[in-house]
Amino acid sequence: KQVALGIDIGGTNTKFGLVNHRGEILSKGSIKTDNYEKVEDFIDELYRTIKPLLDEHCQDKTIEGIGVGAPNANYYSGTIEHAPNLNWKGIIPFAEMMTEKFGFPCKMTNDANAAALGEMMYGAARGMKDFIMITLGTGVGSGIVCGGCLVYGHDGFAGELGHTIVKPGGRKHWSTGSEGSLEAYASATGIVITAKKMRAEFPESMMNEYAEDEINSKTVYECAQKGDPTAIEVFRYTGQKLGEALANFVMFSSPQAILLFGGVIKAGDFILKPTKLHMERNLLPIFRGKVKLVFSELDEADAAILGASALVWENA
Ligand code: BGC
Ligand code: NA
Repeated sequence: KQVALGIDIGGTNTKFGLVNHRGEILSKGSIKTDNYEKVEDFIDELYRTIKPLLDEHCQDKTIEGIGVGAPNANYYSGTIEHAPNLNWKGIIPFAEMMTEKFGFPCKMTNDANAAALGEMMYGAARGMKDFIMITLGTGVGSGIVCGGCLVYGHDGFAGELGHTIVKPGGRKHWSTGSEGSLEAYASATGIVITAKKMRAEFPESMMNEYAEDEINSKTVYECAQKGDPTAIEVFRYTGQKLGEALANFVMFSSPQAILLFGGVIKAGDFILKPTKLHMERNLLPIFRGKVKLVFSELDEADAAILGASALVWENA
C-alpha cells in the first residue's frame, strides 16, 4: 500500500521511480537534467512528468514521501550546494521546493550515497557493513559506509572522493578549478578528455573516425572492442588513475569491498583490470588481496532510485 517516490538527479539525466516497501519499482521514467537553466523549471517539468504516474499508481493518501539523491546534496539541510556538474549555482533549498510543488515531505542525500544505500538494501552490498560505493558518470561520486552507516561528517557532505587529487598539479577541473582530481580523469567527462588527447596523438586510432561530439565512453569502448590500442590505452590510463585513488580510499577506511557503478563500467575488463592492478600495487601489504572490487548488481539508476526512496522509510 505504501509507496515512495525515489529520484536520482545526475549531471545529464534525472531518473525517478515509484517504489514500494519491498523495494519493487512500480513505475519509472526520466527527464534531462541539463536542459534546465533554472531549477524552478526543472521541478515544474518533474512534476508534469510524475503527476500522471502518481495518479495512476497511488491515491494521494498512500504516498509516503519523496527521497532524492543529487550531486552535492546535503542530508541535514535538504539543499544542493554549488554542484560542479549542474546548471544551478549557489545554495538551492531543493527539498523545500519539492515539498511545495508536490505536497509531500522530501528528504535528500548525495546521489552516490543513495546508490550505496540501494546496494546495501537490495543489491551487491547486502549484508556488508563496510564498503565504498564509487559512481562513475558525468561526475565521480562516492558513498562511504562504515559500520553499517553512511558517513555524513560534520557538515553532511562527507564522501566527496571524486574530488580527491590523484595527480598533483594535473588536469584542471572544468568547474571547480582543482588540479588533478579523480573526477577529471575517471568520470565520463574525463574519459572524453583523455580520448580526445590520445586520438590527436595517434592519427591511426579508430577513434579518429568519429566526429568531435561523438567521442564518449561508449564509442571509445566500441573502438577498444575492435582492438584499437589507443582506445584500450584510454581505459588503461583511466583505470590506473582510478586504481591509485582506490588504494588511498582502502587505506583510509579498510572496506571489505569497493562497488563500482555507472555508465563507465560498461567498459568491463578494459577498465576493471588496470583498476585492480593499480589498486593492489599501491596498497600496503596488510590490505593486499583482501578488498573485493565489484560491479553494481542493480540496473543502472535503480540503485540510486531505490536508495533515495529508502530515505522515506528511514523515519516512517
Ligand atoms: C559531485 C558529487 C556527486 C558526483 C556524481 C561530483 O562532482 O561533487 O556530489 O556525487 O559528482 O554525481
Ligand atoms: Na557521497
